[in-house]
Amino acid sequence: MNRELAATPPMGWNSWNMFGPAVDEEKIMRTADTLVKKGMKELGYTYVVIDDCWTIKDGRDPQGNLVPDPGRFPSGIKALADYVHSKGLKLGIYSDAADRTCAGYPGSYGHEEQDAALWASWGIDFLKYDYCNAPWDQKSAIERYRRMGNALASCGRDILFSLCEWGARSPHLWGKTVGGSMWRSSGDIFDSWVDIWVQPPGGIGYYGVGIDTNIELAARIAGYGGPGGWNDLDMLVVGLKGKGQIEGNGLSPFEYRTHMSVWSITCSPLFIGCDITAMDADTEAILTNPHVIAVNQDPLGVPGKRILSKNGCDVFRKPLHDGSTAMAVVNRGSAPAECSFSAGELGFLDTEKTVFDIWQGANTHEFTGDLRVKIEAHETKFWLIP
Ligand code: GLA
Repeated sequence: MNRELAATPPMGWNSWNMFGPAVDEEKIMRTADTLVKKGMKELGYTYVVIDDCWTIKDGRDPQGNLVPDPGRFPSGIKALADYVHSKGLKLGIYSDAADRTCAGYPGSYGHEEQDAALWASWGIDFLKYDYCNAPWDQKSAIERYRRMGNALASCGRDILFSLCEWGARSPHLWGKTVGGSMWRSSGDIFDSWVDIWVQPPGGIGYYGVGIDTNIELAARIAGYGGPGGWNDLDMLVVGLKGKGQIEGNGLSPFEYRTHMSVWSITCSPLFIGCDITAMDADTEAILTNPHVIAVNQDPLGVPGKRILSKNGCDVFRKPLHDGSTAMAVVNRGSAPAECSFSAGELGFLDTEKTVFDIWQGANTHEFTGDLRVKIEAHETKFWLIP
């Protein structure tokens, strides 16, 4: 594993939440252009990731290689990687540790070295490796991820390995040992505060994960991420506003900020999921808030932990490299709440401090060690405390 690949949580954009099977080279190129034009590349959004559905559906070529869909990727992936690299960005791709991906396209099980070599020859920089159609147990998962981890390690190119087995086999305990730099900690995120039950006709039903559930999962495993390997709370839904191809009718402005705040303070990778070529000003402001990103990317690399949970208010604290602290107070309840904590509970000395309110973008004086603050339903107060 090259620790340098993920010294801080990886950042970028992924095609799935917005485009699903409609991903194509035009969308990837325009996304890359936008990351540069909007200054998002400079903020750290580096990886442009093609998710599922990029190959032809039926099999491989006579040499056994994966074949990009000629209709949606007519120039081929190598040309696309060259384009993305010419913008100073990196290209990611997707496969699965079984015969078939989640959407039914060819997977890489049994072809690990051949596929890793092909991706390396194209200039791929990142692999999201899914787990549909693979055996359920942990031992098989570790073995299948290790096979791909080894293939990537010997393919001659740095390819960041992103594990996606949905947290079901505790990848925070073994993800690094198979070469992973990040591992999903939940099932698929939806554009919704609460979970949503999905029942495919004739298929097996499942819950899509709402932001509130993901916050709870993040809090439980926060201790396990760090430089080189991060808990991945899934791609961001900020800005989808119900228009993505995943389920959900969108979140309120408070909820999108809460989502971003928790992903930031717990050091989740930040992969944008909306169509940034058409994002509105609110969405751009959330995704490009430099303080939110600085907390997430702080070089100390210590994920924030939930230190308190009281009256529906969760408090996350994260130490920063300059000795200061980031603190997020989340009202997960569906009504406004008066959140009140003593200095002792928060772990601060009882002295008055000028704190910086990240979402207001201003210094405030409301922190005296003890904390009493009114927080709207599903709102997060996010502060930098000297
Ligand atoms: C799984 C993953 C998603 C996405 C889809 C693609 O559900 O968890 O993030 O990659 O597959 O089919």
